Amino acid sequence: MNKVHLFILTTSLYLNASVYNSFAFVVNIYYLTGHYTKNDRYFLGYLTATMIASHEENGGSQMSVVGDKTLRTSGEAILKAAGIKRIFGRGNASVNALSDIHLTIETGAITALKGRSGSGKTTLLNILSALDEPTEGQVFFRNREITGMSGKERNALRRKEIGLVFQSFGLVPLMSAYENVEFGLRIAGSPVMGNREAAESALECVGMKERMRHRPSELSGGEQQRVAIARAIAHEPVLLIADEPTAELDSRMGLQVMRVFRDLVKRTGMTIVMTTHDPGIMELVDHVFELEDGKIVSQTTNR
Ligand SMILES: Nc1ncnc2c1ncn2[C@@H]1O[C@H](COP(=O)(O)OP(=O)(O)O)[C@@H](O)[C@H]1O
Ligand SMILES: [Mg+2]
Repeated sequence: MNKVHLFILTTSLYLNASVYNSFAFVVNIYYLTGHYTKNDRYFLGYLTATMIASHEENGGSQMSVVGDKTLRTSGEAILKAAGIKRIFGRGNASVNALSDIHLTIETGAITALKGRSGSGKTTLLNILSALDEPTEGQVFFRNREITGMSGKERNALRRKEIGLVFQSFGLVPLMSAYENVEFGLRIAGSPVMGNREAAESALECVGMKERMRHRPSELSGGEQQRVAIARAIAHEPVLLIADEPTAELDSRMGLQVMRVFRDLVKRTGMTIVMTTHDPGIMELVDHVFELEDGKIVSQTTNR
């Protein structure tokens, strides 16, 4: 790696708010231009993580929002939303994505949000995971109001207590499964000591330890999603939020992912909130909220 590459990497990371995207972008440019060696890969990961850490320290994000991870009694509410409304845009062009949402998410259970495309599932998940703020209403996470927190506080909360899984996995293509999980830990600001054990144990949880040296392109969709789940749980969050985690998988692989979810809930008491429109998947969760045009139209419990 020469100085020009280092400069490109540094500038793009600082200019782009989305660290993950810029990182993946630079990695891919490297790949395409053939400037890549194995040592560079480790170096890039290290450099990026260090830069993110120092960037955040300069921003003063040293809040002590590390939650009490022992409090995971099932039956209690981990999340409460009251009177949520979310409007995108202004005036004639505005979209009323959510209105009058009241819900309680039970701790230590799997809850699914269902509804057709455009019904507001992703918008609601983003609000519940403190990625987005509602136009009106309040959200409480473990009895702390997260609406009204500063952006930095919300970021810190997410990094410590929430894990995120997306439909399209979001793995860095040039990193092995293990490196993806370990890199995720560094982004979350974990101390480096113990990261190896945490990454390996997360991969073991999802049944991917044996294949952890493989890159995403060498894994099936279901395996890639399991690696993405390992990355999301490696810092031991109390809440896992998954937006359409099975949508790009065939039904067999979708079931594997659901089995991993069930196992996590059973063994660690983690709470999972996911979205889906697959009726087969809906039968495997504990609670279902149905959304229609941004409103909750039904709530069912499978017990
Ligand atoms: N950033 C945005 N700007 C404008 N409209 C949006 C934005 N995000 C979502 N919407 C609109 O809000 C509604 C709900 O979207 P979404 O939550 O993505 O639904 P779902 O995940 O159920 O498919 C849709 O009408 C969508 O077009
Ligand atoms: Mg969606």
